[in-house]
Amino acid sequence: MKFRTESRLTSSSNVSLFCCAAPGHACSVYCGRHLGRALCIITGASRGFGRTVAKELSLRVKPGSAFVLVARSESELQTLRAELAESDAGRAGLEVRYVATDLGLTEGLEKVTKAVQEAASELIEHVLLVNNAGKSPSVVFTEMAEVNSYLSFNVSSVLCLTARILQAFPQRPGLRRTIVNISSLCALKPFPSWVLYCAGKAARDMIFKVLAEEQPDLRVLSYAPGPLDTDMQLEARSKSGDATLRKSFNEMFTRGQLVSCEESCNKLTKLLMEDSYTSGAHIDFYDI
Ligand SMILES: NC(=O)c1ccc[n+]([C@@H]2O[C@H](COP(=O)([O-])OP(=O)(O)OC[C@H]3O[C@@H](n4cnc5c(N)ncnc54)[C@H](OP(=O)(O)O)[C@@H]3O)[C@@H](O)[C@H]2O)c1
Repeated sequence: MKFRTESRLTSSSNVSLFCCAAPGHACSVYCGRHLGRALCIITGASRGFGRTVAKELSLRVKPGSAFVLVARSESELQTLRAELAESDAGRAGLEVRYVATDLGLTEGLEKVTKAVQEAASELIEHVLLVNNAGKSPSVVFTEMAEVNSYLSFNVSSVLCLTARILQAFPQRPGLRRTIVNISSLCALKPFPSWVLYCAGKAARDMIFKVLAEEQPDLRVLSYAPGPLDTDMQLEARSKSGDATLRKSFNEMFTRGQLVSCEESCNKLTKLLMEDSYTSGAHIDFYDI
């Protein structure tokens, strides 16, 4: 398998000068560094970690950047777009679009690709795709259609969306391209009753390792965000098939050991800003 990269966009070079982010947002944490005039595509942006990633990245891009937010829930995406529009980044010219669609369907991928191409401009210095959308593993394993549908969304759609974005934005001088895979400890460690979740995350990590090998100019990161206090965690501690797993997640919750999306996202942002990780690496929240 090779990720195809023919161009569908004409473009000219416009190298980033790496000055500060949006007015009112001096780069106090990562002084002098930011993500450039970026086209950011964030899947699963309606809630949980993806929503936090969208808000945090909006503080780290230059005016003239564009965001494409993807999830199924239109009202949540609308609310986030309005919030970003009213923020300093929005007032400084951040363009925010959303696509309310099911990424498990080909039609969903087509809608996202179209929106991304419409949001693109020749001034974009950095294309950043955050493959964050995911589903917890409450699946009946005896039903092939359910298994296929799970893997279609959690694995196939991530591969296809990434390939489509890379095809739309081939390598050119002055264009930085970063692909983030939101991974999990489950990509490395088996968790009883989570066969599909673990298999899906392991497959995704390997997909992005292959991509990093194939295209050395790309920056590819698999980031495991830690046990996040989100809807997915709630489902994990109430519906996981394995009683021991449910108990351990419940204990983490009651002891206050879950990680906030903000804390985890800060570490992801730090990795992206410093840009010194090995492309294709799997980096865990607890490694940083
Ligand atoms: N929570 C954790 O403890 C944890 C730990 C390690 C890794 N992760 C990973 O972190 C990522 C984010 O997880 P989270 O905890 O933030 O999950 P979450 O709160 O359940 O959010 C999942 C996001 O994915 C979107 N989504 C789900 N199905 C979709 C579909 N078919 N098409 C398009 N969008 C879809 C959801 O939006 P809609 O419902 O509006 O579509 C939502 O925005 C996932 O990849 C997850 O595997 C989470």
